Amino acid sequence: MKQRSTPITHHTVPVVTIDGPSGSGKGTIGQLLAKQLGWHFLDSGAMYRIAGLAATLKGVDLSQDASVAEVARAMRVQFVPAGPGEPVRVVLDGHDVGDELRTEEGGRRASLVAALPGVREALLEKQRAFRQAPGLVADGRDMGTTVFPDAILKIYLTASAELRAERRYKQLKEKGFDANLPRLLDEIRERDQRDAERTASPLKPAPDASILDSSPLSISEVVDRIAALLQTRRADCSW
Ligand code: C5P
Repeated sequence: MKQRSTPITHHTVPVVTIDGPSGSGKGTIGQLLAKQLGWHFLDSGAMYRIAGLAATLKGVDLSQDASVAEVARAMRVQFVPAGPGEPVRVVLDGHDVGDELRTEEGGRRASLVAALPGVREALLEKQRAFRQAPGLVADGRDMGTTVFPDAILKIYLTASAELRAERRYKQLKEKGFDANLPRLLDEIRERDQRDAERTASPLKPAPDASILDSSPLSISEVVDRIAALLQTRRADCSW
């Protein structure tokens, strides 16, 4: 019998997952941590936002799992690094769509399509493809539970809904968008509920996740705590 060579897997590439509800600071913290480590970064929420936008642009009903999944599978997405201090450019089928993604409507569409099992399946391999040497920091809702269950370190980041709404309000205002605090709080609660109650990959901490409440901490304090946890894990795993 012919001997099969060992398949090349990405499993030697370490992953740190940061999951949690919207506005917990995952994105900012994950990007800073990735930069500090010199690792890649996956904003998985952007994948769902892009799928929602791509389906809307094609006139597909966002409740139709098979049709949205088909769009998600076919879409060509590029995350293009921008200049220092500038957000990464998101290019969908050749068009820059960054601004359309970060709106509240973009988040609402994302959470609708994220509840569809076929869409989640369609995006699974696209997300796993980000696992490249020397390492990956992955931010989302199910990074530690479903996408990278073998991650070296899993963080579940929380903060109160009120604080998250306030942070989002400030963020939107700074970017020159219109924002209404009570409405943002309602939308955050609605989105949390939909994310936690869906059957496909609901928002919940992995059993082996470290739970971190970011409410009393600054961004750099959270990054430092995660870096310290990673240091301990590295020592335990000897890599
Ligand atoms: O993180 P962000 O707010 O960009 O995510 C938008 C929406 O995408 C979330 O409300 C959630 O419904 C969905 N999502 C998800 N699984 C992920 C990342 C995001 O279901 N891993």
